[in-house]
Amino acid sequence: MTSFSIGETDFLRAGLPHQVISGAIHYFRVHPDQWQDRIRKARLMGLNTIETYVAWNAHEPRRGEWDASGWNDLGRFLDLIQAEGMDAIVRPGPYICAEWHNGGLPNWLTRGERELRSSEPTYLAEVSAYLRRVYEIVTPRQIDRGGPVVLVQIENEYGAYGSDKAYLEALVALTREAGITVPLTTVDQPTDRMLADGSLPELHKTGSFGSRSAERLATLRAHQPTGPLMCSEFWDGWFDWWGGVHHTTDVAEAASDLDELLAAGASVNIYMFHGGTNFGLTNGANHKGRYLPIVTSYDYDAPLDEAGNPTEKFFAFRDVIAKYAPVPEELPAPAVAAPAFSVPLASAGSWTDAAATAPSSSAPVTFDELEHLSALVRYDVMLPEGRGGLLRIDPVRDHAWVSVDGQPVGTLSRTRHERALRVPDGRTLSILVEDQGRVNYDHRLGEEKGLIGTPSLDGVRLTGWGSTPLDVAELAAEVGSRVADSSDDVISGPSAWIAEFDLDSPADLFLDTSAWSKGYAFLNGFFLGRYWRNGPQRTLFVPAPATTTGANRLVVLELEELFVPTADFVSGAVLGDTEE
Ligand code: GLA
Repeated sequence: MTSFSIGETDFLRAGLPHQVISGAIHYFRVHPDQWQDRIRKARLMGLNTIETYVAWNAHEPRRGEWDASGWNDLGRFLDLIQAEGMDAIVRPGPYICAEWHNGGLPNWLTRGERELRSSEPTYLAEVSAYLRRVYEIVTPRQIDRGGPVVLVQIENEYGAYGSDKAYLEALVALTREAGITVPLTTVDQPTDRMLADGSLPELHKTGSFGSRSAERLATLRAHQPTGPLMCSEFWDGWFDWWGGVHHTTDVAEAASDLDELLAAGASVNIYMFHGGTNFGLTNGANHKGRYLPIVTSYDYDAPLDEAGNPTEKFFAFRDVIAKYAPVPEELPAPAVAAPAFSVPLASAGSWTDAAATAPSSSAPVTFDELEHLSALVRYDVMLPEGRGGLLRIDPVRDHAWVSVDGQPVGTLSRTRHERALRVPDGRTLSILVEDQGRVNYDHRLGEEKGLIGTPSLDGVRLTGWGSTPLDVAELAAEVGSRVADSSDDVISGPSAWIAEFDLDSPADLFLDTSAWSKGYAFLNGFFLGRYWRNGPQRTLFVPAPATTTGANRLVVLELEELFVPTADFVSGAVLGDTEE
């Protein structure tokens, strides 16, 4: 058994000074059949450790329905790290931020009265059940029991949110009671207040930053006078939001920042080594005066790109690391161009016209009240006396397509702070509302989705709403079983499309969505994620294990218009224009 501890100046691994050179891979953002490949490539860059968060809402989207298999098999992920001869760092949250929906907290938890990220007893009771389950997986895999885990983090950048020390103490007690014996850390942005609020004297404080290392390490040192300095999130790239640019960082600058950290003797966790993908509906959002949902790709401009191929940054980082630690001679295979081909999309009819629920309520029912975890709810109401007027919604979370008697009349966007729309005379007003991703940072965790409050028409509240949840994955499965129709019927409003194509063998693919507007794509039932003309992202990554030898079936659920009814697969990712 190997020991891992914190000495006067260094981490001590088996009693010897040890520099942690780690990189982040989130198992929940990578197809499980590709975990091993990504971990191996981390070792080839010279990393000695892999770090992952644990996403509570991936394991337990519905209360009590805990899953730790398949995509959620954290134990297997840790075992693969060990098999590669590497150490592991686990950050179980419960809050993780990470541009992941709701910062990792399940909707059932954040709904209602619980005081989140605090020592409030009803919140802590749920957290304690969650952590016990996570630690059942992690405890036997600690280094002093023959496993790979060397560090466990308490909370995440808590100093940016609160200062409830009793909360942090409770998390530590739960962690120790569950048999975690490795050193415990906290991470905070390197400001005096955050470092002071986000930790406890007995926890090893680390920082999160991507530049100005010397200055940041000095701030950290003032709060952590002894032991190793560690940057637990060395930001080597950044995330993108719909309607923004694709973020990249200068390779030489990023490499020199890493060099500065390692030369100072600091330990590091590169955030991200490999970002992966927000498959399905898992993206988060930010809100600093404007709601900005995160795109499907979590490429992050990381050394290993979204498809697991080494980039220029990979080789630059490898050269830097080689100055401080042994780096394997073997190099990962260079990227090969993905198969490029086009297939026609056949119209498969409409998909959002499920029978309306009876108008059961005077006010629209939120996604949360419906306990609906998918992307859409359709709200239907009769227009009084068949009259149109000025429709006011206060507010919409997050995007609404408004139609009258099936005819689209406009959209309302939360991002653009839109609140009102003029609607024509007619019988039925329908508002299709999309949850575009739950805010993952700051105090908007658990915000309700849907139509909030009661919409009014010319100042009069509309009553008698039917609120119909639409599960896009279920609808895609149903569409996938339809016989596509090649006739050119024009459907106004949301339309479903199917394409079939053959592959000689499974392959990573890049699906170009730029001739479509907004919607969701599925391959062989695998939910690739959201697409949107708003950009910057233009292609969706299709992991090889989601494809199959022989016939493959693509289902596209479009909310607006398909400009060209074709599915184009292209040779590489197009993540959009950068600032330069
Ligand atoms: C913070 C959080 C991470 C992530 C990064 C930005 O450091 O701790 O989870 O959100 O910001 O990518």
